[in-house]
Amino acid sequence: MPSQPYTASHAHETNGPLPAAIFTVFGATGDLSLRYIMPTLLHMESENLFPEGFAIIAAGRREISTAQFFELLDNAGYLPEVSKESKQRFMRRVEYLSVSFDLPESFDKLSRRIGDRSGDPLGYGHECFNRFYYFAVAPKYFALGAKYLKEHGLLEPCSEHGRTIRLMIEKPFGADQSSAAALDLSLLEYFTEHQIYRTDHYLGKETVQNMLVLRFANEFLEPIWNRDYVDHVEISMLESDGVGRRGATYDAVGALSDVVQNHLLQLLAFTAMERPAKNDAESLRDEKCIVLKDLRPYTAKTIFGNVVRGQYQEYSKEIGKEGHSQTETFVAIKTFIDNKRWKGVPFYLRSGKKMPKRIAEISVHFKPNKNDLFSTEDVKPNILSVQLQPKEKITMRINNKIPGAMKLHSGELVFNYEDQFHSEAPPAYERLFLDFFQGDQRLFIRNDEIQAAWKFVDSIRDNWNSENAPLQSYASGQNEPQESEKLINSAGHSWFTN
Ligand code: BG6
Repeated sequence: MPSQPYTASHAHETNGPLPAAIFTVFGATGDLSLRYIMPTLLHMESENLFPEGFAIIAAGRREISTAQFFELLDNAGYLPEVSKESKQRFMRRVEYLSVSFDLPESFDKLSRRIGDRSGDPLGYGHECFNRFYYFAVAPKYFALGAKYLKEHGLLEPCSEHGRTIRLMIEKPFGADQSSAAALDLSLLEYFTEHQIYRTDHYLGKETVQNMLVLRFANEFLEPIWNRDYVDHVEISMLESDGVGRRGATYDAVGALSDVVQNHLLQLLAFTAMERPAKNDAESLRDEKCIVLKDLRPYTAKTIFGNVVRGQYQEYSKEIGKEGHSQTETFVAIKTFIDNKRWKGVPFYLRSGKKMPKRIAEISVHFKPNKNDLFSTEDVKPNILSVQLQPKEKITMRINNKIPGAMKLHSGELVFNYEDQFHSEAPPAYERLFLDFFQGDQRLFIRNDEIQAAWKFVDSIRDNWNSENAPLQSYASGQNEPQESEKLINSAGHSWFTN
């Protein structure tokens, strides 16, 4: 049967057209904006997703003009190829404003431009258009930014036109559980939980969303998705790049907070959670939060042999701190979820920079076959793997007969997005922006999930610090620390990627 052709409407199934709004992106000249945010917004422009009356204000610290901002974007080299008309439309839609969190008075300019006190400078007929803000800036500015928005009248509601105000926030949200809780309290002075959209761009990836469909629309999986049938689960997120231009920022964070606290634990939550009561934001987030709370925290005793930290050889030189950085660029973890479904099933997580290849994958390893029809050596355990990168695909390893002989061979059933839908999955940020503009919080993280994830991560960081956990060195682009292999081999398992 021919596969169903993929069309743009598959990618942009939305709850109706986007509302007219002013979307202000703070941190517009930063790495994240140049690499992902602006290219995604231009891509959305090329797909005619913005309505009339949707304005984008690119707010950055640099004192540059809008024309210079576009030069910066062009020179960064991440903008997608789009038609001349789309690019021109985008250039009319986006305006650059120099706004700095270190200069509160610069918010006056923003306030004037958005026009809540001075009429309708953008020409929408009334001044009460929706206001969407995105903090793509250093976390130390989140609470301050919210305060400045309030003080400059940028969070004022409008009873007449029913203005909607929302805030999207980049990760990391806090640096540990207590700072995340404090940040929440600060933000909740100005916003309600329903207005706050905490981002984890992994949730915008098609394959992550497909985990829900895979698990809960294929009934045959449910009876075997538990400790009786699953031997262990692996989640790998490996990158071939190093820290690049983010050296100083990255050095204050490290892999554990940069990707484990968010991306890896979210992937784990999607893999391990119970079926949500409804397909809505609260039910989904309730179930993910329960799993995160059930993660077994580490102690001074259990940290050894169960968590490995590493740093690639050139890292400290690359960031200008030769020999002096103790920041991890690699983490491997063996953990357990203490609940009825997963009791005793190891979950292995690992992430590293400067790895031999870029791959992000979840693999569920089923227990070995118990029957005595075939030699146990020939029968390989089934593995269900969900690959997010470099290809979006799902594979199931099954045993087959080799033609002409009663011998066994382990082969793959493959579902490949590109082959099936004749297109690659849309960029993760596109899904997130669409949901943010339309008020769907399903793919954004709730405050209690963040707290539960930090609690687990804090138990690692605190014990690393108190126990002086060694930092293993590894050769860039060649291998991961040997201790990572030992961690998984000790239970007779090995790292798997397709
Ligand atoms: C970001 C991390 O959240 O995710 C980066 O801060 C990492 O360190 C990036 O490189 C990876 O994203 P992706 O989508 O390329 O896997």
